[in-house]
Amino acid sequence: MGVRTVGGRRGVIRKYRDWLPEIPEEAIASLGEGDTPLIEAPRLSEKIGASLYLKFEGMNPTASFKDRGMTVALSRAVAAGSRACVCASTGNTAAAASAYSARAGISCFVVVPAGKIALGKAVQVLAHGAKIIQIEGNFDAALRLSKTAAEELGNVSLVNSVNPDRIEGQKTASFEVCESLGCPPDALALPVGNAGNITAYWKGFKEWREAGLAQAAPRMLGFQAEGASPLVTGQDFESPETVASAIRIGAPASREGALAAMHESGGLIESVTDAEILAAQEALAHEEGVFCEPASAAGVAGLLKLAREGRAPEGVVVSVLTGHGLKDPDVILSRTRLPDPIPATFEALVESMRRVEPAAR
Ligand code: F0G
Repeated sequence: MGVRTVGGRRGVIRKYRDWLPEIPEEAIASLGEGDTPLIEAPRLSEKIGASLYLKFEGMNPTASFKDRGMTVALSRAVAAGSRACVCASTGNTAAAASAYSARAGISCFVVVPAGKIALGKAVQVLAHGAKIIQIEGNFDAALRLSKTAAEELGNVSLVNSVNPDRIEGQKTASFEVCESLGCPPDALALPVGNAGNITAYWKGFKEWREAGLAQAAPRMLGFQAEGASPLVTGQDFESPETVASAIRIGAPASREGALAAMHESGGLIESVTDAEILAAQEALAHEEGVFCEPASAAGVAGLLKLAREGRAPEGVVVSVLTGHGLKDPDVILSRTRLPDPIPATFEALVESMRRVEPAAR
């Protein structure tokens, strides 16, 4: 316990200790999360008409932004004497909880909608030896059950983002964005599912400003998938549906935080279609070389939509790419495939290189 990483990334607790709730050194469960790159996106900038940067959270240890909150939640759970943790998840929370529980040396139970989490995320849970419980219900039902389990069973910590420690850890991404740019961006675009992350970013930007480190805070631009957009329509979705399985959520737990972020920052929360999400995922991968999962492309999809409608933000804009593309191989394989093999000869190779393959769809 309290094992340090040596060199390189220190992890968000050691880096931002003064900004976080108290955590004794010996309870820290870290994998060197945070310090993710802020990558310039010149081609997409041109399309959007702003200077776009990508905060690539897929570069965290379990390949999503969840690691920032999970290091704080698990460390605090250990400090409080928990023997296990439980969470509901569309996949990434499960993967992060599994890894950080293994690191912390406590048991982990993840409750997921049966057959609805991306392959890479399920594999991560299995690899870390956590207990995966598939329910015949959606994420919202899984969250209700996980909350009840944590309340009824002793010494089991709920590590969903309704746990304030998760929000505390996740807000560190705002600090990094401000540090990398030298000031806050003019706008920040990100996907919204259960709404913990937009709540956390806004908290971070406000704290940065309150500490006198900046005069301003960015406009928060949240984007939900059209088939799972309760914050846009004002109505919960009983059967949310979208290709972006990470944000297939019908009743966001942090609704208030998301709406406050939108109102206080003069921002917006709108929806994008699955087709727009997949087009943005492809543009990021083909044109910028950055491979994120579908949900993570919702921010860029939203910015492209605003640009088409003449409403794009100006100045410096950051889009948060919340998770790595390798998490969800099926989404790519459902649209394209490997070509048939050719004979191992130079002639066949040249012939194949000359052939202009239509993008396999
Ligand atoms: N992007 C990805 C890749 C996610 O996994 C999630 C949430 C979000 C965006 C939305 O963040 O919920 O804070 O608004 N995933 C959760 C999970 C629900 O269980 O992994 P949010």
